[in-house]
Amino acid sequence: MGERTNCGELRLGRVGSEVTLSGWVHRRRDHGGLIFIDLRDRSGIAQVVVNPATAPEAHAVAEEVRSEWVVSITGTVEKRPEGTENPQLATGAVEVHASGTEVLNPSKTPPFYINEEQEVDEALRLSHRYLDLRREGMHGNLVLRHRVVKFIRDFLDERGFLEIETPILIKSTPEGARDYLVPSRLHHGSFYALPQSPQQLKQLLMVSGFERYFQMARCFRDEDLRADRQPEFTQLDLEMSFVTQDDILSLIEELYVEIVETITPEKRVSRPFPRLDYRDAMSRYGSDKPDLRFGLELADVTEMAGESGFQVFRSVVSGGGVVKGLAAPGCAGYSRRQLDQLTEEARSRGARGLVTVALGEGEGGLESLTMEQVRSAAARHLTLEEVRGMAEAMGASRGGLLLVVAGPEEVVNNSLSHLRELMGERLELADADEMAFAWIVNFPLLEWRPEEERWDAPHNPFSAPVEEDASLLDSEPGAAVAQQYDMVCNGYEVGGGSIRNHRREDQEKILRLMGHSDEGMQQQFGQLLDALEYGAPPHGGIAMGIDRLIMLLADVDNIRDVIAFPKTQSASDLLFGAPSPVEEGHLSELGIRLAQ
Ligand code: AMO
Repeated sequence: MGERTNCGELRLGRVGSEVTLSGWVHRRRDHGGLIFIDLRDRSGIAQVVVNPATAPEAHAVAEEVRSEWVVSITGTVEKRPEGTENPQLATGAVEVHASGTEVLNPSKTPPFYINEEQEVDEALRLSHRYLDLRREGMHGNLVLRHRVVKFIRDFLDERGFLEIETPILIKSTPEGARDYLVPSRLHHGSFYALPQSPQQLKQLLMVSGFERYFQMARCFRDEDLRADRQPEFTQLDLEMSFVTQDDILSLIEELYVEIVETITPEKRVSRPFPRLDYRDAMSRYGSDKPDLRFGLELADVTEMAGESGFQVFRSVVSGGGVVKGLAAPGCAGYSRRQLDQLTEEARSRGARGLVTVALGEGEGGLESLTMEQVRSAAARHLTLEEVRGMAEAMGASRGGLLLVVAGPEEVVNNSLSHLRELMGERLELADADEMAFAWIVNFPLLEWRPEEERWDAPHNPFSAPVEEDASLLDSEPGAAVAQQYDMVCNGYEVGGGSIRNHRREDQEKILRLMGHSDEGMQQQFGQLLDALEYGAPPHGGIAMGIDRLIMLLADVDNIRDVIAFPKTQSASDLLFGAPSPVEEGHLSELGIRLAQ
């Protein structure tokens, strides 16, 4: 084989030169005489023409080749004949006139087309992932991923961060999910846990004086999977000493804006990222990861509804529940079927039902609305003033559809935030090219778990309260606000972190409120608690979901499309067939006997 030229690099400037291309047959067209081969390698696609008159041997080989065969072609770069150029292709002005064709390896017919971006059953894709990754879209996602990760490494290196690897075989590091356990051969009955994150390790590195650490860290969580969750995923994990919350937020803002501007300049992003109080996000969007590319804010009409003549509202409100809603503009004409479908969507998130109020089209504003123009199952229980009042609170105008849910606050928020996202998508309110980053701040440090009669840390137990709230831990723990932050973008939580407790007594106090005994906390967190007594500097950090960032940059809504070898929704690897049973002998070596 001669020196290899990349297919994607051929341009008019190469006309007249002899090249050797090696790659995969992307497409082959036999024009009853001339054979055209689109040859693909990592760099792109080049058109090859094999002429039986000038290269009979090459032509004989080209007659045999099929899609996805690996071939090597030698020939001369020529300008394509006038009118046959392909402006869609970077190499579309030229073609290679083959003098020699060699088959390096034939290919079986792939189970799906590699050269078309068509829908293919995902199980088939995953079981032949090496072929799926040949497809242009998937290939591009992994190239994008590489570029983002490289950018992050360079950015942090320039700012004095050190990348330090931490162990995968470790002890339980709680992040709220179940651990993956690994049995020990040398210590029967004992297990390692795969890290849910390197949280305690990065804090220990601060005690070691590294001051600025980061890691592209693989994390493992045995939890129910969703479109944006994998059991094994990657975080940009980061920790800094002697910093404030603002220092961390502004570093990450700078990094993320630069990533978007450099790598996906077609997307829009702006600084500073808005900061929303957790409470505010919940009340206005029903979610702590709202899509801020559009409004459709929720309005609380509990007071109004509690005084209305509608028994459903009244009984919910008297039982301590809330009534909230949002207005979908221009949807007053929805059919019975469309409304039933929305009700089902609300029910899927726990709502008992959905009250819809259609405000008929008409001249003028809400003041000209009459009861005859209102369409709602609840209409006869509501006065015109009440309908107008709700519509106003929700920012509705004529032609709008009010979607109202009554019930416990959490259920109402869950179902309305789901409807909000659904309507945002349906009404195409979100600009696909916008990256609407925001910070959610001022989370409560602790939440009461009535069934367990203890406090729990909604994020992780290492977050510190804001300084002025430290004393609340003795009197009113539930009122303490954490120095904790989540970053969201377009409806996804893309990162989260906090300023930590760097003194042992402060950390112990929180663990004690969470129900840990002195002995229990020493056993589970002793390594960290002990280290805090040896001059641990004030520190804080964050972990950013890399897979989710790539999803957003690549415009895909399935996390598996940005991971080379992902697991299915049921945590299976269809390529290797993992998890799989193991041999009896292997189990007994580990001191394990299966229960069945
Ligand atoms: P947290 O648990 O919030 O924080 O995780 C940080 C970010 O990681 C991403 N993420 C996931 N991505 C894909 N699949 C999953 N199963 C998954 N779980 C989380 C999210 C999330 O925002 N140690 C703390 C961080 C810290 O305090 O520094 C932690 O792990 O984008």
